[in-house]
Amino acid sequence: STAFDIVVLPGDGIGPEITAAAVDVLHAVGARHDRDFRFHRHLIGGAAIDATGEALPAATLDAAQRADAVLLGAVGGPKWSDPKAPVQPEQGLLAIRKAMGLYANLRPVAPHPAALGASPIKPHLLNGVDMIVVRELTGGVYFGEKTRTATTASDLCEYSVAEIERVVRRACTLARTRRGKVTSVDKANVLETSRLWRETATRVVADEFPDITLEHQLVDSMAMHLLSRPRDYDVVVTENMFGDILTDEASMLAGSLGLLPSASLGEGRAGLYEPIHGSAPDIAGRGIANPYATILSAALLLRHSLGLEQEARCIEDAVSAALDAGVFTADLAPQGQAVSTREATAAVLAQLDVACPAVA
Ligand code: NAD
Ligand code: IPM
Ligand code: MN
Repeated sequence: STAFDIVVLPGDGIGPEITAAAVDVLHAVGARHDRDFRFHRHLIGGAAIDATGEALPAATLDAAQRADAVLLGAVGGPKWSDPKAPVQPEQGLLAIRKAMGLYANLRPVAPHPAALGASPIKPHLLNGVDMIVVRELTGGVYFGEKTRTATTASDLCEYSVAEIERVVRRACTLARTRRGKVTSVDKANVLETSRLWRETATRVVADEFPDITLEHQLVDSMAMHLLSRPRDYDVVVTENMFGDILTDEASMLAGSLGLLPSASLGEGRAGLYEPIHGSAPDIAGRGIANPYATILSAALLLRHSLGLEQEARCIEDAVSAALDAGVFTADLAPQGQAVSTREATAAVLAQLDVACPAVA
């Protein structure tokens, strides 16, 4: 059987609960398809700060860089959020993305018919919604120079042509496998980085992707159109912070933050996979977090880093079947009808028997 090394970074809050669920599912899929998934757990975020004083210990980065793929839960929480602390958990996450060169963060948004009732948006607007947001992940205001005095603070937002080109190319390549449309989101009426973004996106598409339909949209009206006509979007490409904000908003199309997975990719095959949500300190340790976003991130891991398309589909079909069967955690369920993280995971494992029969 084929062996794959998967680094697991549970992190903080609900991180350990949801990564355990995804590892259980990967384990079951591996057994069925005779794949030898080797899991290597390492520290990141607040858990790493407590143990080593650093948010991204060298041993963790080293293991991640040697792995076939990385599965991450979430980092952060009130215990480590003192702004005067020398190091914060979130810095570990930004550092691993940057060090691994993971500049493209794919965040698919495809509301499941069985969960439409959990969305605050009217169901007739949601039928057929199927988009992928490609969020630039290693540039922009997250990584520019920061300054602070007693009375002023600044965060520099910087983008180079090369940084914009590579993420736009990734979005266009993805759009070719879908409906051939790319919406580039910026704030070109105000920001110089956005003017460069728009110019570069326009040129890349004209020179290299003449078959792609490119539209530009300002981020403020995009925040509105995302809810009023979500069906119109295929691939959306945008800079780091706009992508962060718009995808939490887009999660409401699906009904919960706990449903959206992500894949962070660079030039090589290795990638990092994590739900788009955070460590949910308000529900951590209670066994009630929705594990589906992390389980679906594991499916993306199989597809994009391990090349196991069939196994990826097994997981997606099993989650879909669990949703069809009404297996909802508290974020999705009507009062009193919610299942626990473990019960939701058990439902996915049971559905694998149907979605993913063992190979002979
Ligand atoms: P959050 O995403 O952790 O939670 C927002 C709300 O959504 C909360 O009410 C939470 O209970 C709920 N929620 C999130 N995931 C859920 C799930 N799987 N199941 C059920 N409910 C879920 O955002 P926040 O509260 O603003 O941030 C908390 C901490 O997480 C902060 O320290 C933040 O920096 C960190 N964070 C980390 C990541 C990451 O590691 N990738 C992402 C976002 C936020
Ligand atoms: C995310 C998170 C992170 C981000 C934080 C925790 C640094 O919100 O992954 O969406 O802003 O990228
Ligand atoms: Mn976010």
